[in-house]
Amino acid sequence: LLDAVASGQASATLLRDRSLTDRIRAAGVAGAEERLLKLTANLPPANEQTEKLLAARRAGYHPEKADARRGVDVFSRNCAVCHRVGTTGALIGPQLDGVGNRGLDRLVEDILDPNRNVDAAFRMQMITRKDGTVLAGLFRRDEGAQLVFADFTGKEFTVPKNDIQARAESETSLMPPAMSEIIPEPEFYDLLAFLLSQRATGQ
Ligand code: HEC
Repeated sequence: LLDAVASGQASATLLRDRSLTDRIRAAGVAGAEERLLKLTANLPPANEQTEKLLAARRAGYHPEKADARRGVDVFSRNCAVCHRVGTTGALIGPQLDGVGNRGLDRLVEDILDPNRNVDAAFRMQMITRKDGTVLAGLFRRDEGAQLVFADFTGKEFTVPKNDIQARAESETSLMPPAMSEIIPEPEFYDLLAFLLSQRATGQ
């Protein structure tokens, strides 16, 4: 990958993806750290780009144009593999009942910049196997001879303890970092309308 970026075949913005760069580091590629620094030196600060996106999506949300019922569908397709609202969805990430109480600003941030504040209980781990390959996942449970993790699609995978050389905690969230590219803008607003309608009872 580093070679591809250096020769211009791949975009340097890819190297913004922490889960990716964590993997490059964990794989112990010689000189990786210096090369990462050099290749990302000319990018605008990540925060600036992200802040622009967050501001644009907050400003672009107009409740009267969004449709919470269509938002249910957007949620089922993109989020339910990890999150549950009511009785729908899996429990890999936090349950999202009552999430509407957070308000628009915080929700947009949680979805589009998931690595900003990751609860320690939901940090990803980098698992280096004895053959040198590196896996990334959210630790789920210990089954004795093997450990169970969840991947980016919410699917569980197991790794025999015997195969594990090292495990390191990553700062990143299991939530896919590129939601703004996965979900088209109009659908994103429908999703927001749906989530904002999820208020804890009694409030
Ligand atoms: C692959 C699993 C996965 C997918 C897919 C996913 N999430 Fe998450 N989500 C997580 C995990 C793990 C956390 C907890 C760590 C964190 O804060 O990033 C989280 C955190 C959140 C939070 C903050 C919750 C809290 O209590 O702090 C919100 C809100 C959220 N996700 C919304 C969404 C929405 C909306 C979608 C779909 C567009 C989505 N997520 C897709 C795994 C996922």
